[in-house]
Amino acid sequence: MEDLFGHHISYLRVSITDRCNERCQYCMPDEEQEWLPRSEVLSYEEILRVVRVGAGMGISKVRVTGGEPLTRRNVLWFFEELQKIEGIKDIGISTNGTLLGRNSGNGDETNAQALVDRGVRTANVSLDTLNAGVYAETTGRDLLKEAIAGIDAARDAGFEKIKINAVLMRNRNEHELWEMIEFARERDLLLRFIELMPVSSTHVLTEENFLPTAEAKRLIEFKFGKLTPRADFKTNGPASYYQMPDSDQLIGFIGAMTNLHFCETCNKLRLTCEGKLRPCLGSHLEFDMREVLRNPELTDDDVAKFFLDVVAKKPEQHEFRENYQPGRKMIAIGG
Ligand code: 5AD
Ligand code: SF4
Repeated sequence: MEDLFGHHISYLRVSITDRCNERCQYCMPDEEQEWLPRSEVLSYEEILRVVRVGAGMGISKVRVTGGEPLTRRNVLWFFEELQKIEGIKDIGISTNGTLLGRNSGNGDETNAQALVDRGVRTANVSLDTLNAGVYAETTGRDLLKEAIAGIDAARDAGFEKIKINAVLMRNRNEHELWEMIEFARERDLLLRFIELMPVSSTHVLTEENFLPTAEAKRLIEFKFGKLTPRADFKTNGPASYYQMPDSDQLIGFIGAMTNLHFCETCNKLRLTCEGKLRPCLGSHLEFDMREVLRNPELTDDDVAKFFLDVVAKKPEQHEFRENYQPGRKMIAIGG
């Protein structure tokens, strides 16, 4: 699958639930969150069908997100089936980490171990701060200990790669970037700093709270010395990586707002938990795949055609810089 701008689409991010056990201020709207009724959420079978058809068209990487994916019932069964799909070579999960250290229901196995056993190679864990008070304020839950225990469980479980995603927020984590860097180095985690994106209309999404990656980089350099760009190091995403002066540790910067080249290598589509296929996180375009999936007269060929139609509408770049007004909440898109 190739879009009009020459992007090869090989990566599908799949949100399996809009529910979450946390309430991050930059992800959730300020008002009380109402969850989708179950009938509106795609069943695991429906999601697996989408992935199967996508795999036949060049999707080779799937990242499972939410909400918090580990809150959905029988999620381990879903991963078990996902890894059986031919053509899917890389499976990852994006999680807040708080449930990774929990018992999976099988002996003394953790959820992290169960995921590794089901072929999940990478875990992207959200962690914006190491300060319990800031954590509770930002996520709405006092679960810093659980998140760190989850990261440790993930290390014990042997994921190929564990990435830490930290959303940059002025006056929140601005003054502890170095502690986070040390935390990541001690545990051999790949730390990435992400610019706050206007994906939901909440009170944290203000100019004053916005901390650009360039400034975060300067703060780090002020403390540690010059960072060396590592253009040779690429993950399957828009992060730019730099090497620390005093070690081989790499730090990623995801400049969603300020990096003008951000969208150039985009290879992604997103499936929301209620079956909307979205060609771009920063565009209001979304197309209802559930209608196709639930129409008994339509076949896998129609699902395949749907993929092609959506890919053909993929914009060249996101609209975040154009006074973008958030529509759908991040939690309803899948981070
Ligand atoms: N801006 C930037 N990142 C966000 N995430 C969620 N909402 C936002 C936002 N408004 C991140 C989470 C997580 C990933 C899935 O998306 O921190 O790391
Ligand atoms: Fe939950 Fe992640 Fe959204 Fe936080 S950012 S509320 S952990 S889905």
